[in-house]
Amino acid sequence: MKLDGQKAFITGAGQGIGEAIALKLAEYGCDVAINDVSKENAEEARGKIQAMGRRAITLLGDVADFPEAEKMVKQAVDQLGGMDILVNNAGISPKKEGRKPKIYEIEEQEWDRVMAVNLKGVFNFSKAALAFMIPKKKGRIVNIASITGKTGNSGPVGVHYVASKAGVIGMTKAMAYDVAEFGITVNAVAPGVIDSPLRKMSTPEVNEALRRAIPLGRFGTPEEVADGVLFLVSDFAKYITGETLDVTGGWGMD
Ligand SMILES: NC(=O)c1ccc[n+]([C@@H]2O[C@H](COP(=O)([O-])OP(=O)(O)OC[C@H]3O[C@@H](n4cnc5c(N)ncnc54)[C@H](O)[C@@H]3O)[C@@H](O)[C@H]2O)c1
Repeated sequence: MKLDGQKAFITGAGQGIGEAIALKLAEYGCDVAINDVSKENAEEARGKIQAMGRRAITLLGDVADFPEAEKMVKQAVDQLGGMDILVNNAGISPKKEGRKPKIYEIEEQEWDRVMAVNLKGVFNFSKAALAFMIPKKKGRIVNIASITGKTGNSGPVGVHYVASKAGVIGMTKAMAYDVAEFGITVNAVAPGVIDSPLRKMSTPEVNEALRRAIPLGRFGTPEEVADGVLFLVSDFAKYITGETLDVTGGWGMD
């Protein structure tokens, strides 16, 4: 499987799952645009990709801001020479003292921020990227959702997060319908419990209870989520669109 010379844009790629996706796509031949709000992490990820002999650029900015998204996508297209793959990965999951916040503990501003980053961010970058993909009649979009968006069994995450990820899964299907006529596919990956820096926001007790509930008996790795993304952007998945691929070790299986 080779993606030689393809141009990929990954949001929230400074650490965790996003960084693993950026490294995986670079390993298989992509040039990569790394978006993040953290300059330090984005630069570090860029260094790793350049060390692999691929082109990499960083684009700092908040996915919740549409004009910023348009600007960053245009910069990526100008500097890398196109955009074949977009991975909407950036996401936040505010906690309450290391556990899930219950609905009656969530402030309106926190609800709005989670929706703005996790759901509107996907709209922002997809719309901006499609402006380049549609004329070329070519493109792959992968949205990083969450199994909790299907099961509602929220584990360590609040209702705002679950609602945003259910929205991402619904939007993935609706977008897939809208752009199918242009030969563009839109799919999602729904991770379960993944051992990324985000995980350290939960207490050890919360994490241990989660681990015991996973049929395969362990957390997933960011690289295993990246494997799912790699499949969905590869030729092996060219007839798959509107699908959500669970990467959960069996946690919350359909
Ligand atoms: N870790 C898990 O167990 C898990 C499970 C299911 C889904 N997910 C999803 O996977 C994605 C990545 O999660 P992760 O575990 O790697 O998280 P993480 O917190 O380790 O990394 C997220 C990255 O996104 C960046 N980011 C945050 N807000 C941003 C914004 N507004 N604009 C641009 N960048 C922003 C952060 O700086 C960070 O580099 C998220 O969408 C998350 O909801 C994670």
